[in-house]
Amino acid sequence: MKIFIDTANVKEIREAVSLGIIDGVTTNPTLVAKENRQYTELLKEICSFLSGPVSAEVISLNAEGMVSEARQLTKIAKNIVIKIPLIKEGLKAVKILSGEAIKTNVTLCFSATQALLCAKTGADYVSPFIGRLDDISQEGMGLIRDIKQIYANYNFKTQIIVASIRNPLHVLEAAKLGADVATVPFAVIEQLIKHPLTDIGIQRFLEDYKKIPQKQ
Ligand code: E4P
Repeated sequence: MKIFIDTANVKEIREAVSLGIIDGVTTNPTLVAKENRQYTELLKEICSFLSGPVSAEVISLNAEGMVSEARQLTKIAKNIVIKIPLIKEGLKAVKILSGEAIKTNVTLCFSATQALLCAKTGADYVSPFIGRLDDISQEGMGLIRDIKQIYANYNFKTQIIVASIRNPLHVLEAAKLGADVATVPFAVIEQLIKHPLTDIGIQRFLEDYKKIPQKQ
């Protein structure tokens, strides 16, 4: 499973990339707003040290506007992927952009039928938001299961990005289901690394090391 980091914070991205586990980045206007930086400059900096896909979201609500924003954003770097909301106009835009070989990530997907339509437009990625479904007592991971099955039935090439991840169990379930990608916030990446038995084990090894005679 590929792991993307779900943040626009350059420090977090650099730190996660240095771990050797990051395949790409997803941003959105909410994440970017926290950084207090110009969007294009921010994306340029991220793409200067990361060659994997970096998702940048459009804000237009009509296909024409989305396509024109996408064409501008792709000028920033060749690994920019255009994030487009899963609405009627979004589907139209994705169809046009896939004809121009501009990569797309269709975001705010909350149903398997939305994901089916998204794949038919030739989108490169679909982002089902599982945490936000869990938040309203609908099992987010069930959506991933359904999309996986539908895409397998028809051999769709659209990759599933499990998004809106809130905790390590979401990552575990995504991997068990064979999702293509999980986009994970930095705090959850840290939780994935940490295990109390690892820390206790290190402490014991260090204490025992002190008991080893240093000189013959
Ligand atoms: C995905 O690409 C989105 O940026 C993200 O996962 C949204 O998650 P949230 O529900 O935590 O805002």
